[in-house]
Amino acid sequence: MEIRLENLTKVFTDKNGKETRAVDDLTMTIPSGKLVGLLGPSGCGKSTTLFMIAGLHKPSGGKIFFGDDDVTRLAPEKRGIGLVFQNYALYPHMTVRQNIMFPLENLNIGRNEAHELVEEMAKLVGIEDQLDKKPAQLSGGQQQRVAIARALVKKPRVLLLDEPLSNLDARLRLQTREEIKRIQRETGITTIFVTHDQEEAMSISDQMVVLNFGVQQQIAVPQEMYTKPNNLFVAKFLGNPPINIIEGKIKDNNVIIGENIVIGTKEAKDGEYVIGIRPEDFKFDAKGFEVDARDIDHTGRDTMIRFSVGEAQIRALVDSDSVQGKDSITLSVKKGKFHVFEKETGQVV
Ligand SMILES: Nc1ncnc2c1ncn2[C@@H]1O[C@H](COP(=O)(O)OP(=O)(O)O)[C@@H](O)[C@H]1O
Ligand SMILES: [Mg+2]
Repeated sequence: MEIRLENLTKVFTDKNGKETRAVDDLTMTIPSGKLVGLLGPSGCGKSTTLFMIAGLHKPSGGKIFFGDDDVTRLAPEKRGIGLVFQNYALYPHMTVRQNIMFPLENLNIGRNEAHELVEEMAKLVGIEDQLDKKPAQLSGGQQQRVAIARALVKKPRVLLLDEPLSNLDARLRLQTREEIKRIQRETGITTIFVTHDQEEAMSISDQMVVLNFGVQQQIAVPQEMYTKPNNLFVAKFLGNPPINIIEGKIKDNNVIIGENIVIGTKEAKDGEYVIGIRPEDFKFDAKGFEVDARDIDHTGRDTMIRFSVGEAQIRALVDSDSVQGKDSITLSVKKGKFHVFEKETGQVV
């Protein structure tokens, strides 16, 4: 089911009357059956957005639609949502089976049917062997799967996940992330996945939304957002190692960094701009500009050299053989693989 947010706004007012605009005029569509990643730094309004969709926070303005239904004023339990949090929030004294069955308690569902539903959900998330254990006997990843099974047992129309992987160690995080993707595909449930981790969002999302200070920065499929960021904030937020940021200029449509290094052309007014180049977008080029190649990091798969162009410290991913034992090499920027931003606004040119 499609979810539509129209001018959604949430302002918190503390007891001294100070206002925090946690979510500011957010308009977006979450397509039916897709997994949408809501990404942004801590405090940018991700949870507040999710809680408004869930009905746990009342919006200060704007509307929320589930399909054609305006649910802005609908009670949370009537919205048909499943919620999963970072800390699992399982009942420690209950077994896994009792935890998953819990949301069915006050519904008019027979015992047998309830047990069948629990088995079905446990199978779906891959914990059918763990049903008689207590949560404390499971790993963090398994506990989070129990929480997902519990969120899905009432067959909600929407699944909302708030930083569900943040409490897991790196290995379990990767595994559970793949598992969530599989469960979402299998069930086809419209899902919003909140995270502050760009790599996590990039890998799991069909579509991604980036927020900063409650304001939507860009909506796009992950790869497009990575290669065509709307603004400097998005460019810097995505990618690890991060994009190189260089003060540069455009003169006669030549894009220039450093002393007088032309890295390509772009039709724009002459002037000073901020240039972004991703570390992987340099290449060896006999006719390129010369850089120091003595500062090298080997990280297993990648080799990275560090050099300066004017004031800017640059990182470039290179082929390890080609820098071996060399003091300097010549590089150029891959064709068109640079980003030009307005100095004042950070908007892409
Ligand atoms: N219940 C609340 N009362 C007051 N301010 C809040 C409340 N919840 C969140 N905020 C503020 O709203 C902003 C967004 O918070 P939140 O949605 O939790 O961010 P995120 O989930 O992206 O880290 C923050 O500045 C936060 O301090
Ligand atoms: Mg949060």
